[in-house]
Amino acid sequence: MFKNVLIEAAHAGAAEILRFFNKEFSVSNKEGVNNLVTEADHASEKAIFDVIHKHFPDHQVLGEESGESTHNSEYKWVVDPIDGTINFAHGVPLNCVSIALEKDGEVFLAAVYNPHLKEFFFAEKGKGATLNDKPIHVSDQGETVKSFLVTGFPYTYINSAHGPLEDFEKFVRKGVPVRRLGSAAIDLCWVACGRFDGFFEHKLEPWDSAAGYLIVEEAGGRVTDHKGDKFSIYQHKILATNGKIHDEMVEVLNNRKEL
Ligand code: IPD
Ligand code: CA
Ligand code: CA
Repeated sequence: MFKNVLIEAAHAGAAEILRFFNKEFSVSNKEGVNNLVTEADHASEKAIFDVIHKHFPDHQVLGEESGESTHNSEYKWVVDPIDGTINFAHGVPLNCVSIALEKDGEVFLAAVYNPHLKEFFFAEKGKGATLNDKPIHVSDQGETVKSFLVTGFPYTYINSAHGPLEDFEKFVRKGVPVRRLGSAAIDLCWVACGRFDGFFEHKLEPWDSAAGYLIVEEAGGRVTDHKGDKFSIYQHKILATNGKIHDEMVEVLNNRKEL
Protein backbone atom coordinates (compact mmCIF):
# COMPACT_ATOMS: atom_id res chain seq x y z
CA MET A 1 0.00 0.00 0.00
CA PHE A 2 2.73 2.51 0.99
CA LYS A 3 4.70 1.56 -2.10
CA ASN A 4 1.73 2.05 -4.43
CA VAL A 5 0.99 5.49 -2.99
CA LEU A 6 4.65 6.47 -3.24
CA ILE A 7 4.72 5.48 -6.91
CA GLU A 8 1.41 7.22 -7.63
CA ALA A 9 2.65 10.39 -5.92
CA ALA A 10 5.97 10.36 -7.80
CA HIS A 11 4.15 10.02 -11.13
CA ALA A 12 1.71 12.80 -10.20
CA GLY A 13 4.59 15.18 -9.44
CA ALA A 14 6.48 14.14 -12.57
CA ALA A 15 3.41 14.84 -14.74
CA GLU A 16 3.50 18.44 -13.52
CA ILE A 17 7.23 18.67 -14.28
CA LEU A 18 6.60 17.51 -17.84
CA ARG A 19 3.56 19.79 -18.22
CA PHE A 20 5.73 22.88 -17.58
CA PHE A 21 9.09 21.73 -18.98
CA ASN A 22 10.29 24.07 -21.75
CA LYS A 23 6.98 25.97 -21.54
CA GLU A 24 6.14 29.26 -19.91
CA PHE A 25 5.91 29.37 -16.13
CA SER A 26 6.20 32.02 -13.44
CA VAL A 27 9.40 32.22 -11.41
CA SER A 28 10.21 33.77 -8.03
CA ASN A 29 13.34 33.90 -5.90
CA LYS A 30 14.14 32.26 -2.59
CA GLU A 31 17.17 32.85 -0.36
CA GLY A 32 20.19 33.43 -2.65
CA VAL A 33 20.01 35.41 -5.92
CA ASN A 34 19.78 32.36 -8.17
CA ASN A 35 17.76 30.12 -5.90
CA LEU A 36 14.56 29.95 -7.92
CA VAL A 37 11.16 28.53 -7.26
CA THR A 38 8.84 28.10 -10.22
CA GLU A 39 5.16 27.56 -10.74
CA ALA A 40 6.06 23.95 -11.55
CA ASP A 41 7.64 23.38 -8.11
CA HIS A 42 4.36 24.41 -6.46
CA ALA A 43 2.24 22.42 -8.91
CA SER A 44 4.35 19.29 -8.46
CA GLU A 45 4.28 19.57 -4.67
CA LYS A 46 0.50 20.04 -4.67
CA ALA A 47 -0.03 17.04 -6.95
CA ILE A 48 2.19 14.87 -4.71
CA PHE A 49 0.48 16.00 -1.50
CA ASP A 50 -2.98 15.50 -3.05
CA VAL A 51 -2.12 11.83 -3.60
CA ILE A 52 -0.62 11.39 -0.13
CA HIS A 53 -3.49 13.17 1.65
CA LYS A 54 -6.09 11.19 -0.31
CA HIS A 55 -4.70 7.91 1.01
CA PHE A 56 -3.20 8.98 4.34
CA PRO A 57 -4.87 12.14 5.63
CA ASP A 58 -3.28 11.73 9.08
CA HIS A 59 0.32 11.34 7.98
CA GLN A 60 2.82 14.11 8.58
CA VAL A 61 4.38 15.75 5.51
CA LEU A 62 7.49 17.83 4.99
CA GLY A 63 7.72 19.54 1.60
CA GLU A 64 10.38 21.94 0.40
CA GLU A 65 7.87 24.54 -0.74
CA SER A 66 5.17 24.26 1.92
CA GLY A 67 7.11 23.25 5.02
CA GLU A 68 6.12 20.76 7.68
CA SER A 69 2.60 19.80 8.70
CA THR A 70 1.65 19.58 12.36
CA HIS A 71 0.06 16.13 12.25
CA ASN A 72 1.14 13.90 15.07
CA SER A 73 1.89 10.72 13.15
CA GLU A 74 4.70 8.14 13.22
CA TYR A 75 4.79 8.46 9.42
CA LYS A 76 6.32 11.43 7.64
CA TRP A 77 6.58 11.99 3.88
CA VAL A 78 9.62 14.05 2.90
CA VAL A 79 9.14 15.61 -0.51
CA ASP A 80 11.22 17.58 -2.99
CA PRO A 81 8.78 18.35 -5.82
CA ILE A 82 11.58 19.24 -8.24
CA ASP A 83 15.15 18.53 -7.30
CA GLY A 84 17.27 20.38 -9.84
CA THR A 85 14.98 23.38 -10.22
CA ILE A 86 17.60 25.54 -11.92
CA ASN A 87 18.21 22.80 -14.47
CA PHE A 88 14.45 22.58 -14.94
CA ALA A 89 14.12 26.34 -15.41
CA HIS A 90 16.77 26.26 -18.15
CA GLY A 91 15.40 23.24 -19.98
CA VAL A 92 18.13 20.88 -18.75
CA PRO A 93 16.59 17.41 -18.35
CA LEU A 94 18.44 16.61 -15.12
CA ASN A 95 15.73 17.13 -12.55
CA CYS A 96 13.41 14.83 -10.68
CA VAL A 97 10.79 14.22 -8.05
CA SER A 98 12.18 12.93 -4.74
CA ILE A 99 9.90 11.35 -2.14
CA ALA A 100 10.83 9.44 1.02
CA LEU A 101 8.66 7.95 3.73
CA GLU A 102 9.87 7.85 7.33
CA LYS A 103 8.49 5.79 10.18
CA ASP A 104 9.55 6.95 13.64
CA GLY A 105 12.28 9.07 12.11
CA GLU A 106 13.81 6.36 9.88
CA VAL A 107 13.45 6.46 6.09
CA PHE A 108 12.12 3.08 4.92
CA LEU A 109 10.73 3.79 1.44
CA ALA A 110 12.13 6.02 -1.30
CA ALA A 111 11.53 7.05 -4.88
CA VAL A 112 13.44 9.38 -7.19
CA TYR A 113 11.93 9.80 -10.64
CA ASN A 114 13.51 11.69 -13.53
CA PRO A 115 10.68 11.75 -16.09
CA HIS A 116 12.87 13.17 -18.86
CA LEU A 117 15.16 10.14 -18.88
CA LYS A 118 12.30 7.91 -17.69
CA GLU A 119 14.46 6.67 -14.82
CA PHE A 120 12.55 5.55 -11.73
CA PHE A 121 14.78 4.73 -8.76
CA PHE A 122 13.15 2.95 -5.84
CA ALA A 123 14.26 1.43 -2.55
CA GLU A 124 12.65 -0.27 0.40
CA LYS A 125 14.63 -0.76 3.59
CA GLY A 126 16.14 -4.25 3.69
CA LYS A 127 14.88 -5.12 0.20
CA GLY A 128 17.45 -3.53 -2.11
CA ALA A 129 17.22 -0.75 -4.68
CA THR A 130 16.00 -0.76 -8.26
CA LEU A 131 16.12 1.35 -11.41
CA ASN A 132 13.03 0.78 -13.54
CA ASP A 133 12.35 -2.39 -11.53
CA LYS A 134 15.80 -3.89 -12.13
CA PRO A 135 18.15 -4.33 -9.13
CA ILE A 136 21.01 -1.84 -8.97
CA HIS A 137 24.35 -1.93 -7.19
CA VAL A 138 27.11 0.54 -6.42
CA SER A 139 30.42 0.41 -8.31
CA ASP A 140 33.45 -1.67 -7.48
CA GLN A 141 36.12 1.04 -7.61
CA GLY A 142 38.48 0.75 -4.65
CA GLU A 143 40.74 3.78 -5.16
CA THR A 144 39.62 7.38 -4.80
CA VAL A 145 42.26 8.61 -7.22
CA LYS A 146 40.73 6.45 -9.96
CA SER A 147 37.18 7.38 -9.05
CA PHE A 148 34.49 9.35 -10.84
CA LEU A 149 32.91 11.75 -8.34
CA VAL A 150 30.05 14.22 -8.19
CA THR A 151 29.35 17.14 -5.87
CA GLY A 152 27.18 20.23 -5.50
CA PHE A 153 27.45 23.78 -4.22
CA PRO A 154 24.83 25.58 -2.12
CA TYR A 155 23.13 28.72 -3.44
CA THR A 156 24.03 30.36 -0.12
CA TYR A 157 27.76 29.68 -0.62
CA ILE A 158 28.18 33.41 -1.03
CA ASN A 159 27.96 33.66 2.76
CA SER A 160 30.44 30.96 3.66
CA ALA A 161 34.18 31.56 3.72
CA HIS A 162 35.43 28.01 3.45
CA GLY A 163 34.15 24.63 2.41
CA PRO A 164 32.77 23.26 -0.83
CA LEU A 165 35.31 24.75 -3.26
CA GLU A 166 38.28 23.76 -1.13
CA ASP A 167 37.00 20.19 -0.99
CA PHE A 168 36.31 20.20 -4.73
CA GLU A 169 39.90 21.30 -5.31
CA LYS A 170 41.36 18.46 -3.23
CA PHE A 171 40.11 15.98 -5.82
CA VAL A 172 40.26 18.03 -9.03
CA ARG A 173 43.89 19.03 -8.42
CA LYS A 174 44.79 15.35 -8.32
CA GLY A 175 43.17 14.74 -11.69
CA VAL A 176 40.00 13.14 -10.33
CA PRO A 177 36.97 13.96 -12.50
CA VAL A 178 34.31 15.62 -10.32
CA ARG A 179 30.97 16.49 -11.91
CA ARG A 180 28.30 18.94 -10.74
CA LEU A 181 24.92 17.87 -12.12
CA GLY A 182 22.68 20.21 -10.13
CA SER A 183 20.38 17.64 -8.54
CA ALA A 184 21.50 16.00 -5.32
CA ALA A 185 18.82 13.31 -5.57
CA ILE A 186 20.07 12.33 -9.03
CA ASP A 187 23.69 12.48 -7.81
CA LEU A 188 22.82 9.99 -5.07
CA CYS A 189 20.93 7.67 -7.41
CA TRP A 190 23.77 7.70 -9.90
CA VAL A 191 26.11 6.59 -7.10
CA ALA A 192 23.58 3.86 -6.27
CA CYS A 193 23.59 2.49 -9.82
CA GLY A 194 27.37 2.67 -10.17
CA ARG A 195 27.69 5.59 -12.61
CA PHE A 196 29.55 7.57 -9.96
CA ASP A 197 31.78 6.14 -7.24
CA GLY A 198 31.15 8.89 -4.70
CA PHE A 199 29.21 12.08 -3.91
CA PHE A 200 29.79 14.77 -1.31
CA GLU A 201 27.98 17.97 -0.54
CA HIS A 202 28.05 20.53 2.27
CA LYS A 203 24.58 21.89 2.67
CA LEU A 204 21.71 19.62 1.79
CA GLU A 205 18.24 19.78 3.27
CA PRO A 206 16.13 16.73 4.24
CA TRP A 207 14.11 16.78 1.01
CA ASP A 208 17.32 16.74 -1.08
CA SER A 209 18.84 13.70 0.60
CA ALA A 210 16.07 11.58 2.16
CA ALA A 211 15.17 9.34 -0.79
CA GLY A 212 18.61 9.15 -2.40
CA TYR A 213 20.18 8.24 0.94
CA LEU A 214 18.11 5.06 1.29
CA ILE A 215 18.59 4.21 -2.40
CA VAL A 216 22.40 4.35 -2.02
CA GLU A 217 22.35 2.25 1.16
CA GLU A 218 20.04 -0.32 -0.37
CA ALA A 219 22.26 -0.51 -3.45
CA GLY A 220 25.13 -1.59 -1.18
CA GLY A 221 26.73 1.83 -0.69
CA ARG A 222 27.59 3.81 2.42
CA VAL A 223 26.25 7.20 3.53
CA THR A 224 27.70 9.25 6.40
CA ASP A 225 28.49 12.83 7.29
CA HIS A 226 31.93 14.17 6.29
CA LYS A 227 33.50 12.78 9.47
CA GLY A 228 32.37 9.27 8.64
CA ASP A 229 29.70 9.29 11.37
CA LYS A 230 26.09 8.17 11.06
CA PHE A 231 24.09 10.23 8.58
CA SER A 232 20.80 11.89 9.37
CA ILE A 233 18.71 13.61 6.71
CA TYR A 234 18.34 16.51 9.15
CA GLN A 235 22.03 17.40 8.98
CA HIS A 236 23.61 19.23 6.07
CA LYS A 237 26.84 17.41 5.19
CA ILE A 238 26.73 14.19 3.25
CA LEU A 239 29.23 11.69 1.86
CA ALA A 240 27.77 8.82 -0.16
CA THR A 241 30.02 6.28 -1.83
CA ASN A 242 30.30 2.71 -3.05
CA GLY A 243 31.69 1.91 0.43
CA LYS A 244 35.13 0.95 -0.87
CA ILE A 245 36.49 4.49 -1.19
CA HIS A 246 34.54 5.84 1.79
CA ASP A 247 37.22 5.81 4.51
CA GLU A 248 39.80 7.29 2.14
CA MET A 249 37.41 10.08 1.13
CA VAL A 250 36.77 10.84 4.81
CA GLU A 251 40.53 11.16 5.33
CA VAL A 252 40.85 13.52 2.38
CA LEU A 253 37.85 15.65 3.35
CA ASN A 254 39.24 16.01 6.86
CA ASN A 255 42.74 16.97 5.64
CA ARG A 256 44.34 13.87 7.11
CA LYS A 257 45.43 12.58 3.72
CA GLU A 258 46.37 14.03 0.33
CA LEU A 259 45.46 11.91 -2.64
C1 IPD B 1 19.34 21.72 -5.06
C2 IPD B 1 20.00 20.62 -5.84
C3 IPD B 1 21.48 20.90 -5.99
C4 IPD B 1 22.15 21.14 -4.65
C5 IPD B 1 21.45 22.24 -3.88
C6 IPD B 1 19.96 21.91 -3.72
P1 IPD B 1 16.77 22.28 -5.66
O1 IPD B 1 17.95 21.47 -4.88
O2 IPD B 1 19.84 19.37 -5.18
O3 IPD B 1 22.14 19.84 -6.62
O4 IPD B 1 23.48 21.49 -4.88
O5 IPD B 1 22.06 22.36 -2.61
O6 IPD B 1 19.33 22.96 -3.02
O7 IPD B 1 16.83 23.69 -5.17
O8 IPD B 1 17.04 22.17 -7.09
O9 IPD B 1 15.56 21.56 -5.19
CA1 CA C 1 16.42 19.96 -3.75
CA1 CA D 1 13.39 21.58 -5.02
